[in-house]
Amino acid sequence: MAYKIAMIVGSLREGSINRKIARSICGLRNDNLDCSMVEIGDLPLYNQDLDSNPPEPWTRFRDQVRAADGVLFVSPEYNRGVPGVLKNAIDVGSRPYGQSVFDKKPGAIVTASPGSIGGFGSNHQIRQACVFLNMPVMQQPEAYLGHVSDDSFDADGCLKDGPLKVLVTVLAHAFAGWVETISRSRQLLAEDLAHAAQAKAKEPA
Ligand SMILES: Cc1cc2nc3c(=O)[nH]c(=O)nc-3n(C[C@H](O)[C@H](O)[C@H](O)COP(=O)(O)O)c2cc1C
Repeated sequence: MAYKIAMIVGSLREGSINRKIARSICGLRNDNLDCSMVEIGDLPLYNQDLDSNPPEPWTRFRDQVRAADGVLFVSPEYNRGVPGVLKNAIDVGSRPYGQSVFDKKPGAIVTASPGSIGGFGSNHQIRQACVFLNMPVMQQPEAYLGHVSDDSFDADGCLKDGPLKVLVTVLAHAFAGWVETISRSRQLLAEDLAHAAQAKAKEPA
C-alpha cells in the first residue's frame, strides 16, 4: 500500500534545490509513497480574526494536509532560521485551536543548502514546531544536506549519481519505513481498543 504524503517546500523559487530534493525523496520510494506537492505561496498571512471565515487558500491547504498520511517538510534556511513562508503555512495548518491538520501525522524534516551546514538552524526550528504540533517526526537519519547546488541535478531535475544521491536514497527508505511504522502502530492500537470495547460489551452485567 502506498501512503499519501503531503510535500511542503519552504521555497517559492522556480528552480529551488529543495523542491528538487523533495521530488527525489518521493521518486526514490514511489512504490510506498504517493506524494503530492502542497503549495504554500498563495496562503494569506495567518490572522486569527479570519478563523471564522477563512480565505479559500487556507481551506485548500488544510484539506490537502488533512487528507495525507504523512508530511515531508523540505526547506532552505533563511538567516539561520525557517523561511517565513513555511512558518506561515505551519501556523495556518495548526489552527483553529484544537483542529490542527498536523496532529499525530508522521513527518520528516529535510533542509538543503549550498552552504556547508545544510540548513541546520532551519531544520531544528521546524522540528521545534513539530513537537508542539504533536507530530511523530523521524529522528534519524538527520537530514542537513550541505553543498547542494544546481550542479547536483541533471537537466530533468533528478539527482546525479554520487554521495548526495546515496544519502537521499537512505532518507527516502527511512521515511517510507517511518510512515509505515507509525501508521501500522496506530491502526493496531485502534483495533486493540475496538476489540477491548467489544469484549467489555459482552461481559455479563
Ligand atoms: C533571504 C535569504 C537568506 C538566506 N540565509 C541562508 C542561511 O541562513 N543559511 C544558508 O545555508 N543559506 C542561506 N541562504 C541561501 C540559500 O540556502 C540558497 O539561496 C538556497 O538555494 C535556497 O534554497 P532553494 O534553492 O530551495 O530556494 C539564504 C538565501 C536567502 C534568499
